[in-house]
Amino acid sequence: MTVLVRLLYASKVAPNFGPMDMRDILESSRRNNVDQGITGLLIMADGYFFQALEGDRKVVNSTYIKILKDARHAASIILSNQEIEKRQFSGWSMGYVLSSEKNRPLFMSYSAGKYFEPFSMRCAAAESLLAEIGGYARQLGGTESATGT
Ligand SMILES: Cc1cc2nc3c(=O)[nH]c(=O)nc-3n(C[C@H](O)[C@H](O)[C@H](O)COP(=O)(O)O)c2cc1C
Repeated sequence: MTVLVRLLYASKVAPNFGPMDMRDILESSRRNNVDQGITGLLIMADGYFFQALEGDRKVVNSTYIKILKDARHAASIILSNQEIEKRQFSGWSMGYVLSSEKNRPLFMSYSAGKYFEPFSMRCAAAESLLAEIGGYARQLGGTESATGT
């Protein structure tokens, strides 16, 4: 039986992380995710990753377990893992949004302090932020630094 789920997690970007690492992550994500029927959105902001993975429960689980072992990030925390009716990021094998001056107010509207801090976000807030950022990226005609398909 297949069940459609969406998993959201946050993690800390590794200290030596560089732009080439991002390029490599997006390249392998898009290749593997198309193959596995996974869609989603990856955000990098204030030293954190924030990612949504949508697809079949078993596949989302195994993909998350694989991502967990990746040394380019650490201290991952699952913020939400829910059965869903419908994908939010269909069409994006892995969309990508980097925080910038333009979208900063959106991130900050979900933050208690001076910086974006996803580890302490409530499940509903994490879901809502992802939806808003997805909508914002769609308005721009794709995700900011690269398109998701
Ligand atoms: C923050 C982060 C997000 C990632 N997201 C995905 C993803 O959505 N799908 C994926 O296959 N790999 C993702 N990766 C990369 C995996 O950890 C792994 O390097 C990659 O899947 C290996 O692919 P390959 O075996 O095809 O070389 C991510 C890594 C990081 C650090």
